Amino acid sequence: MDQQLRDLVCGMPKAELHIHIEGSLEPELIFDLARRNGVALSWPDVEALRQAYSFTDLQSFLDIYYAGASVLLTQQDFYDMTWAYLERAHADNVHHVEIFFDPQTHTGRGVPFAAVIDGIHGALADAGTRWGISGGLIMCFLRHLSEEDAMATLQQALPHLEKIIGVGLDSSEHGHPPEKFTAAFARCRELGLHLVAHAGEEGPPAYIWSALDVLQVERIDHGVRCLEDPALAERLASSGMALTVCPLSNVKLRVFNEIGDHNLAQLLDAGIAATVNSDDPAYFGGYINDNFIAVFKALGMDREHAKTLARNSFNASFMPEHQKQAKLAEVEAWFSR
Ligand code: HPA
Ligand code: ZN
Repeated sequence: MDQQLRDLVCGMPKAELHIHIEGSLEPELIFDLARRNGVALSWPDVEALRQAYSFTDLQSFLDIYYAGASVLLTQQDFYDMTWAYLERAHADNVHHVEIFFDPQTHTGRGVPFAAVIDGIHGALADAGTRWGISGGLIMCFLRHLSEEDAMATLQQALPHLEKIIGVGLDSSEHGHPPEKFTAAFARCRELGLHLVAHAGEEGPPAYIWSALDVLQVERIDHGVRCLEDPALAERLASSGMALTVCPLSNVKLRVFNEIGDHNLAQLLDAGIAATVNSDDPAYFGGYINDNFIAVFKALGMDREHAKTLARNSFNASFMPEHQKQAKLAEVEAWFSR
């Protein structure tokens, strides 16, 4: 990848639509917060924790990710974690970010829902003031827990609805199909929330079909297994359904053996509105621009791909239409320099 293309991709205006804020917790911050809060960790130091980041599949990652999140107790902790992510995102020229958070990971440990959401929301609001970054919060339900538990979480979120733009579905995919959450998503739709779901990361194309047809989601998170089903790929392309793809995550969690095997270029060639995102940057070896660089290098992608991906990121976002048009114009201007 030549320096000119690298600068073009790193500097272009972009939106990040698939980032789990708990996955932005760097080992150093995990240890700082553990000390601040008197939480015991099962790793002696930062190096040992980093050494543990060798995953064989989604579940092996989730086990460590939930352990890392156990240091988060106060509103200030959630603020500090989110601010650290936003500084990185700003440095990568992210203009808009839709942040996933997992309230059940925290309320299950006795942390108040308000501490979680107010800390994250406060940092996002301050990033708007400081850098003009726009964005919103997407509350994810943990799919390994029951639908009843998701409904109880939604109940806790009701007083905070103005701080949430949508809901999602994450955690262990195998054995937990989207349709397990039919009623919860129907209720969220009635409340006017945007709907997204992880599907087709480890799970089969059938999970993507049911996320679309049963949950009626507006974006698919990951979705890379869609190419196994030509009718599904055609459906995604013709309907303009966006996929939030996370290349480094897919390699770390062995969805693809190596970055050169990733299907991002094939997705774009098939006319599917794919986007590039970091998923859990502290765990998977990089933030959004690291993901762009890795995949552009490995797949020999070019300037046209870059422009398509920048446009897709804003088109697939939940920003208001006038703001979307303004951002698309900024992309156009960046590529006509
Ligand atoms: N998949 C499912 N759940 C998650 C992920 C992911 O990639 N990251 C954080 N929670
Ligand atoms: Zn994810």
